[in-house]
Parts: sequence; structure tokens; C-alpha cells
Amino acid sequence: MNILKRIILLGFIVFAGIQLIPTTRNQSNAVLATDIIRAFNAPENIKSLLKTSCYDCHSNNTNYPWYNKIQPVSWLLEGHIKEAKEELNFSEFGAYSKRKQKSKLKSIASQIRDNEMPLPSYTFMHRDAKLSEKEKTLLENWINQLRDNL
Ligand code: HEC
Repeated sequence: MNILKRIILLGFIVFAGIQLIPTTRNQSNAVLATDIIRAFNAPENIKSLLKTSCYDCHSNNTNYPWYNKIQPVSWLLEGHIKEAKEELNFSEFGAYSKRKQKSKLKSIASQIRDNEMPLPSYTFMHRDAKLSEKEKTLLENWINQLRDNL
């Protein structure tokens, strides 16, 4: 066997091997009372925008497409989710202090406005998560109103 074939074979073995390493999955069916959608009675359109564009990273439940079950894609994604939830977890938003809620809402509105969120690397694969101007305005209005009422 020549060296190139050996390298390719080794690559396959490593790739197959890492598929067997278990990963923790960010999945939960429970919609907590502290979920921003429940805690603040989000209307249907807002609920669906947040779920489609943000919840895969910023909540306790990720909808995994098939390629995210493949290593090393899945490790990369779990890393993103962990980091994102530390910053902002919509499933626990209702349990944040009022002060934290206000500052997070402000930051959410500006991240959306500046096209920082949802992450461009994510919308590249999840076209439906990309927010149109109209959707951005809808979210912004709801978020600003919520912030004013807190
Ligand atoms: C693919 C994963 C992913 C998606 C989808 C996503 N985010 Fe993020 N978000 C992150 C990560 C990772 C961070 C932390 C690192 C950073 O700031 O870039 C973050 C940080 C943030 C922050 C900063 C928190 C702070 O306190 O400053 C806000 C606000 C935010 N995201 C809002 C949103 C909103 C709103 C959506 C949906 C419109 C969204 N994100 C969608 C991954 C994601």
C-alpha cells in the first residue's frame, strides 16, 4: 500500500472512530415558566421568530439537523451553544433579575439591528433563520416595548 492510501485509510478510521464518542445534547421538551415566551406572553409571530432564529443556541432545546449529528460538526455546535447560553438563555430569561433583563433586552435589540445575531455562520446553513427588515422591526418593537414595561 502506498503512503497516500495509508493516510486516507487512517483518516477514515479516525473519522469513524470519533463518531462513537458520545456528546451531550442540548435537548429538553419542557417549556419552562421562565421561558421568555411564556413569562412575557409573546404573541405567535414573535414566538416563531425567536424559535427559528435564536433558540437553537440560546435556549435549553436545539433542533438538530442531520449534519449536526456528525462529529466534529457537533462538537463545534455544542461549543457555540454553551457559550451562547452563558450569555443569554431564553429558557431562563424570566428568572433573571429585572436589571439583567433590561440590559439583555437592550443588547438583543442592538445585536439584531446590527446583524450580529443570529450568527452569520448559522444563517449560512439555516436560511430560514435570517431575519428580514420587517422581522427585525417586529422583534425590535416587541423587545423595546417589553423593556419599557419592566
Ligand atoms: C448559532 C448560534 C447562535 C444563534 C442562532 C444566535 N446566537 Fe446569539 N450568541 C451566540 C454566541 C456563541 C454568543 C456569545 C459570543 C458572542 O457574543 O459572539 C451570542 C451572544 C449573543 C448576545 C450577547 C449577550 C450579551 O450579553 O451581550 C445576544 C444579545 C444574542 N446573542 C442574541 C441573539 C438573538 C436575539 C438571536 C436570534 C435573533 C441569536 N442571538 C441567535 C450564538 C448564537
